[in-house]
Amino acid sequence: MSKARLDGKTVIVTGANVGIGKETAKDLAQRGARVILACRDLEKAGKAAKEIRKASGNGNVVVQKLDLASLQSVRSFANKITETETRLDILINNAGIMRCPKWKTEDGFEMQFGVNHLGHFLLTNLLLDLLKKSAPSRIVTVSSLAHIRGKINFDDINLDNCYDPAVSYEQSKLANVLFTRELAKKLKDTGVTANCLHPGVIQTEIIRHLYPTLSIWLKILLVPISILTFKSVQQGAQTSIYCAVSEELDNVSGLYFR
Ligand SMILES: NC(=O)c1ccc[n+]([C@@H]2O[C@H](COP(=O)([O-])OP(=O)(O)OC[C@H]3O[C@@H](n4cnc5c(N)ncnc54)[C@H](OP(=O)(O)O)[C@@H]3O)[C@@H](O)[C@H]2O)c1
Repeated sequence: MSKARLDGKTVIVTGANVGIGKETAKDLAQRGARVILACRDLEKAGKAAKEIRKASGNGNVVVQKLDLASLQSVRSFANKITETETRLDILINNAGIMRCPKWKTEDGFEMQFGVNHLGHFLLTNLLLDLLKKSAPSRIVTVSSLAHIRGKINFDDINLDNCYDPAVSYEQSKLANVLFTRELAKKLKDTGVTANCLHPGVIQTEIIRHLYPTLSIWLKILLVPISILTFKSVQQGAQTSIYCAVSEELDNVSGLYFR
């Protein structure tokens, strides 16, 4: 509901080619920001950027390659941003992968922990100087209610001994919350805030790896359940947008919103 404008400000949204990220990017573009869609698939991202430019009337929406499953890609992306952008006002760590098979990132980390937490952890740290230089600025990380069941398996962080896609997702989303809390402490008095959130249960492509594992009956049941109970992507983006622009959060940091 906030009428906040972002003219002259720069925003990065990770995973902005579909779902909650794309809807968030569109809203921030409508508020006048320069919006950088940080995505791994340039073709999909290019189409999303075109749609967002058209829908928002803001031509300042660009795409930069970022694959969070590769720390090299995270470093290249951050280098490009720090070399070419003069400011960064809002970083939205939105991209996510849920309940995928036992996959590894390029660096050998379990995929969900690697993408959802480690990729964003490195990205945020590499962009901190630019965020501090642009203060007041905000870091918003999209976690999940699933973090409540999460546990950090310090002895087997990649769950090599007993991989369970749900346990891995929960661990990665708890890591998002813990990272936000610690970051907020470290950023005290810098003018940079860090908050995280649960967007709700939203109709997006997040179930793309879970869906094929469901029985035919569950797949059939999922259709009416999702229509009746899941929220739209527009509703799903509201908590991210609230954390990114809301005036009453100017000095609020280290919290989890839902
Ligand atoms: N939907 C829900 O009900 C729900 C509930 C709680 C939390 N969340 C969280 O909300 C966030 C957004 O998810 P969504 O629901 O909008 O799902 P989505 O439609 O599947 O979008 C996920 C986005 O993340 C990107 N992504 C995945 N792996 C990546 C990688 N290695 N590098 C860069 N980008 C990558 C995807 O890119 P590609 O299209 O190229 O794969 C896509 O843009 C996630 O963090 C998710 O955990 C969602």
